Amino acid sequence: MAGASANLDQRRDYAAPTHASSQITAPHIGALRLTHFRSHEQLDIACASGAMVLTGANGIGKTNVLEALSMLAPGRGLRSAAFDDMRFERRLGWTVSADIVTAQGTARAGIGWRDGARRVRLDGANGKLDDVAHLLPQLWLTPAMDRLFVDGASGRRKFLDRFAQSLDTTLSKALSAYEKAMRERNRLLQEPGGAHGSGETALWLDGLEEAMALHGVAIAAARLTALDALAVGLAAIPEAAFPRAEIALIGTLEAALRMQSALEVEDGFRARLKATRPLDGAAGRCLEGPHRSDLQTIYAAKNMPAADCSTGEQKALLVGLILAQAHSVAAQRGDVPILLLDEVAAHLDRTRRGALAEILCELGGQSWITGTDRHSFDGFETVFGTDLAAINMQENGAGNNFDARENGSEDNE
Ligand SMILES: Nc1ncnc2c1ncn2[C@@H]1O[C@H](COP(=O)(O)OP(=O)(O)O)[C@@H](O)[C@H]1O
Ligand SMILES: [Mg+2]
Repeated sequence: MAGASANLDQRRDYAAPTHASSQITAPHIGALRLTHFRSHEQLDIACASGAMVLTGANGIGKTNVLEALSMLAPGRGLRSAAFDDMRFERRLGWTVSADIVTAQGTARAGIGWRDGARRVRLDGANGKLDDVAHLLPQLWLTPAMDRLFVDGASGRRKFLDRFAQSLDTTLSKALSAYEKAMRERNRLLQEPGGAHGSGETALWLDGLEEAMALHGVAIAAARLTALDALAVGLAAIPEAAFPRAEIALIGTLEAALRMQSALEVEDGFRARLKATRPLDGAAGRCLEGPHRSDLQTIYAAKNMPAADCSTGEQKALLVGLILAQAHSVAAQRGDVPILLLDEVAAHLDRTRRGALAEILCELGGQSWITGTDRHSFDGFETVFGTDLAAINMQENGAGNNFDARENGSEDNE
């Protein structure tokens, strides 16, 4: 691990946790630098380890900062955007550099995009994004997810898979391998005679279905593990503040795995794929598999499907789910994930905002929270005290330096 940067030196005393220590450092960003990322030509933020509150008018670049942080996780980030679009005024490329502080020390991670390729640096050498993600698990909640319960199942699958991914880092590989095999199978089945074909095409389909069965069962198993972990997390969040959700997974492989061995489920799925070639060929898509599963959410106290709840209730359910996820990741991995909560305060009343601050503080990780109104976060300042950095991006403008020690209370120095 690299040496800590200047502003982190004072935290060295966290570096050697013992079993006796009450508080082990949760992984967090100590310092962040964006270069040519979206609206930020260059932006430096020195961070507090508790709450990072970003405020400022619409369009000032708050979500852009969270999106930059999400570059430290696999995938295309919290906007699911194209990396090219993240280039500041279409410059050549962008970089996101972060000092990741963990109980073991500080690692410097850098993610860069240039000439159509992503490069990952970790402690001065080429690294893997999975390794960065492993150091710094993260979860996010954005306004785009407000329609999670109402819109199609794919958003809910992604929501669960992102969480499952933070428990099982091999899931993303299984998901992309499954997708790839399925796409290729769909393509072959569309070819004249493909679905009823014999010889080479049939052999090729056998191989693809073999891969789909193998990875499909791995995906379903990872989701079931995540679902069970989430149920434990949900029970740990006080129901008074955020309504409890009851969750279930609707999916053929997931259901089968509750009753049969993985091998049996795999064999069954492979056989069904083979049998449904003509059907899938006619439909132009694969009609069964983990790509069709859905996460069902019920507002427990009312026994009401989440989709039928009010907008405010749905938001509170979502926040409760994210907090439960954070709880589960912490319990399973021992590391509290960082939370990116975009515009989360707007939908919550004062009491719920206060409860959110307390739960986040108790979780003990780093939370990045944005909002237009600084006063929505008064409760956060009370709860987090000096472990909070409130950054008003308005005052500083874009392309600037934000130092938690100046912006926050009397933090650190
Ligand atoms: N590639 C880019 N280069 C420069 N500016 C960008 C780029 N992408 C988005 N922006 C600008 O970023 C702003 C939106 O930033 P955002 O972080 O979403 O604001 P908010 O503070 O409301 O969350 C918009 O003004 C948009 O024009
Ligand atoms: Mg925003």
